[in-house]
Amino acid sequence: MNRKIAIVGAGLIGQSWAITFARAGYNVALFDALAGAVENAHDQIARSCESLEEFDLLSGQDGAEVCARIRSAATMQDAVDGVCHVQENTPENLEIKRVIIKDIDRATPKDAVIASSTSALLPSQFSEGLEGAHRCLVAHPLNPPHLIPAVELVPGPSTSAETMATTTALMKSIRQTPICTLREVEGFIMNRLQGAILDEAFDLVERGLSSPEDVDAAMRDGLARRWVFMGPFETIDLNAPGGVADFIDRYGPAYDRIGAHRPDRTDWSGPVAESVIQALQWYDRRTRSNWRDDRLAKLAKFVEKEKES
Ligand SMILES: NC(=O)c1ccc[n+]([C@@H]2O[C@H](COP(=O)([O-])OP(=O)(O)OC[C@H]3O[C@@H](n4cnc5c(N)ncnc54)[C@H](O)[C@@H]3O)[C@@H](O)[C@H]2O)c1
Repeated sequence: MNRKIAIVGAGLIGQSWAITFARAGYNVALFDALAGAVENAHDQIARSCESLEEFDLLSGQDGAEVCARIRSAATMQDAVDGVCHVQENTPENLEIKRVIIKDIDRATPKDAVIASSTSALLPSQFSEGLEGAHRCLVAHPLNPPHLIPAVELVPGPSTSAETMATTTALMKSIRQTPICTLREVEGFIMNRLQGAILDEAFDLVERGLSSPEDVDAAMRDGLARRWVFMGPFETIDLNAPGGVADFIDRYGPAYDRIGAHRPDRTDWSGPVAESVIQALQWYDRRTRSNWRDDRLAKLAKFVEKEKES
């Protein structure tokens, strides 16, 4: 099995991806166009690996063992030699990405996947017209990926199903959580969700309805706390005795009033409700509620202790 990975761009995200792949046993080649950047990256990576070892997050390995799987590459050509996957992490600038992805496509083995960490560019913008457009996609992490597992996989119009499947499997093999969009969309999934929350947060403050501190506290000590172990759909499923359909019956009218100013709002009780309900059939609601409460209790204890320290 090919376990060689190239990291192109060794800044914040490139360093963290290097740890994430190396920790899972992959051999990583690190390349950056700026002189001294790779050396600096090795220093930062060593520091992060020490901390991961201290928190027992290296599956029993020591930090030095993980760092030893990460080598410096003097050129991009050297970095991509024989790899199965390239993770591109150059600055968020379309012109830079277009040039670098084209170079990577030319230099990389034809069966390797080319993934961009871009936060907001679409695959069609940087890969359309390339010979290897079928093997290009976005693999967008949250910073830092070695501590936050979610990674969004976004295909462009030319991305092949095989590229999506291979990358999904690769991300699972390094213990990341792949989250796939079915086609490219502005903001992918996480920034669309985050954007909706930020819109409301700014609106509440601008209209003098809340202080910024209270908006932050509402997320920190409220919604974020219950979203550590489950997402918003599972949360509402457990917040009404009859699950999602019951929640929509009970509280839907209130949310209709809250969202009345938004154009083109989705009707929660339309066909989408059935898709959500179907996705939540895998557990018994009462058992799951108990499971949630046990974990929230552990989390409450942890947060209490952290606040004291
Ligand atoms: N920082 C975040 O929170 C975050 C989160 C998710 C995704 N991203 C995305 O990850 C990408 C990288 O972001 P970052 O925060 O690591 O930026 P960064 O500035 O820390 O790192 C970018 C690196 O790319 C190098 N570089 C520039 N041109 C290059 C080239 N032609 N070839 C090789 N290396 C080159 C730079 O020298 C630098 O070391 C961006 O697309 C960004 O949107 C960032």
